[in-house]
Amino acid sequence: MSQDSDTAIKTICKHYGNDAGRMMDIVLAVQEKFGCVSSAAMDMIARAVGTKRVEVESVVSFYAFLSTEQKGKVVIRLCHDVIDCMRGCDRVAEAFREELGIDVGDTTPDGLITLEYAPCIGMCDQAPAALVNETVVTHLSSDAAREIVRKLRQRLAPHQLVEHLGDGNNAHPLVQSMVVNNIRKAGPVVLAELTPGQALAKALAMTPAEVIRDVKTARLREGGRRAALRAVQCRRGGAGHVQGSGDPDRVSGRGVRGDDDLRLRGRRRHGHPVSAR
Ligand code: FES
Repeated sequence: MSQDSDTAIKTICKHYGNDAGRMMDIVLAVQEKFGCVSSAAMDMIARAVGTKRVEVESVVSFYAFLSTEQKGKVVIRLCHDVIDCMRGCDRVAEAFREELGIDVGDTTPDGLITLEYAPCIGMCDQAPAALVNETVVTHLSSDAAREIVRKLRQRLAPHQLVEHLGDGNNAHPLVQSMVVNNIRKAGPVVLAELTPGQALAKALAMTPAEVIRDVKTARLREGGRRAALRAVQCRRGGAGHVQGSGDPDRVSGRGVRGDDDLRLRGRRRHGHPVSAR
């Protein structure tokens, strides 16, 4: 790493008080300056803030938006999750590939654009969708993909790809996004008139049998379903006995006796409704 880079990284670390607790700010600033957080940069950051290299690397390797390798100035992250696949994202990917002359995962030779696949970006109802740096583009087609590349090559900034604004706060001057909210009807969860603590008060007023009935009939999947089964187990075990396996930080947990000083962590949430403590 050059002397200039060395100085720049030290300056960034100093700006954040050489504080290892500001690691996210530091690595983001380094990535913004250099386009990535290289292995050498991680060593340097660790030295500057007086921590171990693994502390830096654990942050950089955890977040998909941080990279140890140089990417293009613009990164197109095309959602390739199931909904987008059903809505034709492969055709969009093909158009991006053809127009850019690169494959997914590559960067154009001029260093301008990187094309990547991404898991769900939360735009399932407006798929196929992509992030162009931080700009969301929705309802993509092959033509739209080609047009995006043409505009980026004309050096338009990603936010200039937004030609029409979505509804609600998407049109706010500080947001300026093409996303539409697609919330059509107020219900008990979305857009409901609720006062803080209302749901909790309702849950606490329910009997254990009512809680079990609700979790059984809620059509829960995955974690929710497991939580429901655990609740039923709790009930069968009687007050003060929760049995299960595995991870103490999650809902599943340790066998627990009725001793007051034994604490359930995540599982406590589910133990309470069925009288476990
Ligand atoms: S599955 Fe593609 S945005 Fe959600």
